[in-house]
Amino acid sequence: MTLPQPAARIYPDLDALSCAAADLIVTLAKRALAGRKRFSIALSGGSTPRTLYALLASPPWKESLPWEGTHVFWADERCVPPDDRDSNYRLALETVLSRVPLPLANIHRIPGEEGPDRAARTYEDELRFFFGNAAAGFDLVLLGAGEDGHTASLFPGAPTLASTARLALPVHLDRPLHSRVTLTLPVLNGADHVLVLAAGRAKAPVVQEVIDNGNRKKYPAGLVRPASGNLIWMLDRDAASLLRELAADQRAARE
Ligand code: 6PG
Repeated sequence: MTLPQPAARIYPDLDALSCAAADLIVTLAKRALAGRKRFSIALSGGSTPRTLYALLASPPWKESLPWEGTHVFWADERCVPPDDRDSNYRLALETVLSRVPLPLANIHRIPGEEGPDRAARTYEDELRFFFGNAAAGFDLVLLGAGEDGHTASLFPGAPTLASTARLALPVHLDRPLHSRVTLTLPVLNGADHVLVLAAGRAKAPVVQEVIDNGNRKKYPAGLVRPASGNLIWMLDRDAASLLRELAADQRAARE
C-alpha cells in the first residue's frame, strides 16, 4: 500500500511556524481531553522547537493549553544527567515545563543517566504502564529532522530502524557524541498526530527528498508515516525552498 506524500505546511519564518505549531498543539490537546481525561505528547530536542516551547509557556497558549490533563514524554534523550546542557529534558524544563502548571507526575522523563540499555528498559516500562501493554499510542509526537535525515535518535542505516518489538531502544554512540534512548518507528507511526518541524536552508535537501521524492529508505524522517495518524511537516520557507510546490508558487507570484 503506498502512503500519500506527507502534508507540508510552509510558513514565512521560524516564528510563524512556531506560532502555528503552538496553535495546533492547543487544538489537539483540547480535542484529546474532550474525548478522554488525558493528552499525551512526546517532545524532541534540538534547536528548532525552542521557539515553540517558549511560546507554549507564553500568552495566549499558556492559558489555553489544558496542562492538568497533559502528559509529557520525549521522543528521544541523550544519556546525560537531567541537568546536563545537552539534555532534552533540561531543554523542555527550562523553556516550558518549569513555566506552566503541569503536574510533576505528568512529566515522564527518560532517565538517560542510567545509561542507554537500562534507560531504554525503564522508559519502556513507563510507556507500557501509561498506555497499557499495547503499543504506545501518543496523541501527538513532535519531531525534528537532522540534515542527514535522522529524526528522534533514529539515524540512517541504524539497526534501530528495523525494530518492531520494542517501544524504546538504546542508541550506542562513541564519544564525544552522547549515547541515547529513542522511541522506535512503530511508536512514532502509532501516534494519532505527528508534527515534523524543519527550518533553515540546511534542511532543504532532506525536505525535498522526503516530501517531493518520497526517498524514504535513506532518511529515517521519511520513514515516519503514521498508517492511520495525521502527519504534517511544518516548514519555514528556507527549509521548503527546494520543493517543487514552492517553486511553482514563487513562479506564480512572479507572473
Ligand atoms: C535530538 C533531537 C533530534 C533533532 C534533530 C533536529 O535529540 O537532537 O531529537 O532528532 O530533532 O537533530 O535538530 P535541530 O532542530 O537542532 O535542527
